[in-house]
Amino acid sequence: MTRARDAARDVLGQVRAHLSPRLALVYGMNGAGAVEAGGAGARVDLSDGRSALDFGSYAVTLLGRRHPDVVRAVVAELETMAVSTRVLANGTTAHFAARLADYADPGRLTRVWLGLNGSDAVEAALKLARLATGRSRVVAVEGAYHGKSMGALAATSNHRYRRSLEPLLGGVTHLPADAAAVPGAFEPGDVAAVIVEPVQGEGGVKPLDPAFLTALAAAARKHGAFLIADEIQTGLRRCGERALSVSLGLRPDAVLYGKALGGGVQPLSALVATEELYAPLAADPFVHTTTFSGHPLGAAAGAAALRAVEELAPRGTRLAALLAGGLERLKRRHPGLVTAVRGRGLLWGVEFGPAGAAGDVLLELTRRGLIVSPCLGRPEVIRLVPPLVAGDDQVEEALDILDATCAAVPDEFRSAARNSADVRDGAIGSREVVPPARRVP
Ligand SMILES: Cc1ncc(COP(=O)(O)O)c(C=O)c1O
Repeated sequence: MTRARDAARDVLGQVRAHLSPRLALVYGMNGAGAVEAGGAGARVDLSDGRSALDFGSYAVTLLGRRHPDVVRAVVAELETMAVSTRVLANGTTAHFAARLADYADPGRLTRVWLGLNGSDAVEAALKLARLATGRSRVVAVEGAYHGKSMGALAATSNHRYRRSLEPLLGGVTHLPADAAAVPGAFEPGDVAAVIVEPVQGEGGVKPLDPAFLTALAAAARKHGAFLIADEIQTGLRRCGERALSVSLGLRPDAVLYGKALGGGVQPLSALVATEELYAPLAADPFVHTTTFSGHPLGAAAGAAALRAVEELAPRGTRLAALLAGGLERLKRRHPGLVTAVRGRGLLWGVEFGPAGAAGDVLLELTRRGLIVSPCLGRPEVIRLVPPLVAGDDQVEEALDILDATCAAVPDEFRSAARNSADVRDGAIGSREVVPPARRVP
């Protein structure tokens, strides 16, 4: 045990010295000095022998950890062709592209570009829309999160990440998520792309009004702008559907996938687009390239992940109902503390009223064995993103931990958080002030 503690201390020391002192502090507090050591299914193992339910990991582990089919596919590929020559066609990648082309909106979204992170897919979409239209303006939505690379950041609305880097890519308008605001956002012939998340994940798990989404899609069509549905968090059955935007009848010109696409085993993202949007890449495949785009390990993982997600979709519907009912009960049991619960499928946000309470609860949940994610744009909301492989009993376990944690939120814990400069600044999970008894030794 002492050896495990020393090893964990070494890891945190290296994080502090070489990655980020702040991260080391946050990791140290979250794990009470332990670090992550492994995991399977919905559980993560900690270096001190504890384990935690993983309903977080920023929505990546939709299939849980080390899903056997995904691992098998990646190992087989690893033993065959780990990286592509990129001067010869790769069968695994081509097969996966064909699967994706038949997935989101078969027959319409038939063209595929592969990346590693969600923001790669966003960058590709924005570039293609500009190239295909010859226009440069982009319409996005207030509260949107599309990533932090420079192009994607311009479409992300959160000032916390934008302000010290401005000027960003110009010509991006963020409009309120209100159908009445849509007409004013368009000038004839100037908008290249409209980009929208059907449910804003980092923005506090906010499902957008279907009337707004429909108005936005209609305006995009009317003005000849491409509609980009950012389903990096909502897609792949996370919210019940393969792509919410397609099932809502928005007829997007592209659906973006990421996060769970690599099955929780490989980094992978994709743009799945119409021929019209993809035309610049069809004409010149070198107009947008990255070294690892379409790497075979990711493609192997992605193909296995799509199969597994579809097999597990009915189970997701059942888990979603359990979770939704339990969170409504949570809100009723903790009035004043829990002020709202909202979400769809296996993407839920719990909003806390008192300043700083969400950060306290998140930390305490982790210590009690439930990992959840903060919302980068709304520090008062924590996000629950359980995997499709979770058992009913694990959803109940998570709800019990949440309930017990809410019941135990001590007043002085809250006021300590309230006094923290980080919380005043809108950060979450990065407080330096915690009650002395809870300090990591
Ligand atoms: C909706 C959405 N779009 C884009 C991104 C950016 O993805 P990544 O962080 O993988 O670049 C995220 C990440 O949270 C996201 O939630």
